[in-house]
Amino acid sequence: MTAAKLTLRLATPADAQAIAVMSRDLIETGLGWSWTPARVARSIANRDTTVLAACDGHLVIGFAIMHFGDDRGRLNLLAVHPRYQGAGLGRRMNLWLEECALVAGIEAIELELRRGNVGARKFYERLGYRSAGVVTRYYRGEEDALRMARDIRRTVGPAPAWQAPWLR
Ligand SMILES: CC(C)(COP(=O)(O)OP(=O)(O)OC[C@H]1O[C@@H](n2cnc3c(N)ncnc32)[C@H](O)[C@@H]1OP(=O)(O)O)[C@@H](O)C(=O)NCCC(=O)NCCS
Repeated sequence: MTAAKLTLRLATPADAQAIAVMSRDLIETGLGWSWTPARVARSIANRDTTVLAACDGHLVIGFAIMHFGDDRGRLNLLAVHPRYQGAGLGRRMNLWLEECALVAGIEAIELELRRGNVGARKFYERLGYRSAGVVTRYYRGEEDALRMARDIRRTVGPAPAWQAPWLR
């Protein structure tokens, strides 16, 4: 029997339940369930939001949700099932979203995570995100969030030593 391939694709309405359950169990633990199947389905249908599904064959084993503003992207949620963590899936999903964001003219991506989620903070730091402050009582008025951000504009090398003639 050949092993199923891990793939990344855009989520469809049929993925909403699996994604919502992962949000509840891997991200919102102890905070209730705000990303319900209905809310995830609305995000999938929203033209300003991209929802990615990471799959092992037909099984959804990771996901990411990003909302696109005018010049900022907001990474709402990203998670990988524990059995598949550490294999680069989180990085690949983030890369996909960054590529989309660049094409959409977005300059920076922001996100919030639970202040005590040290593993996720280290993950985002490895991906180039930097701390942008603490938002007190962000979650349900109880738990603080750490805000992180990443400037995704690409540098293309040093500028040549040149001065516009009208400035000389
Ligand atoms: C955080 C999470 C998404 C990482 O996904 P992943 O697929 O395991 O991450 P990757 O394998 O792509 O790791 C990318 C890099 O981050 C690092 N990293 C990932 N998790 C880490 C952790 N817990 N501690 C330290 N570094 C970590 C990896 O070592 C890797 O570094 P490298 O550049 O040296 O290779 C995953 O652990 C998860 O789903 N956690 C629960 C949900 C969650 O907290 N989501 C974030 C808040 S919305």
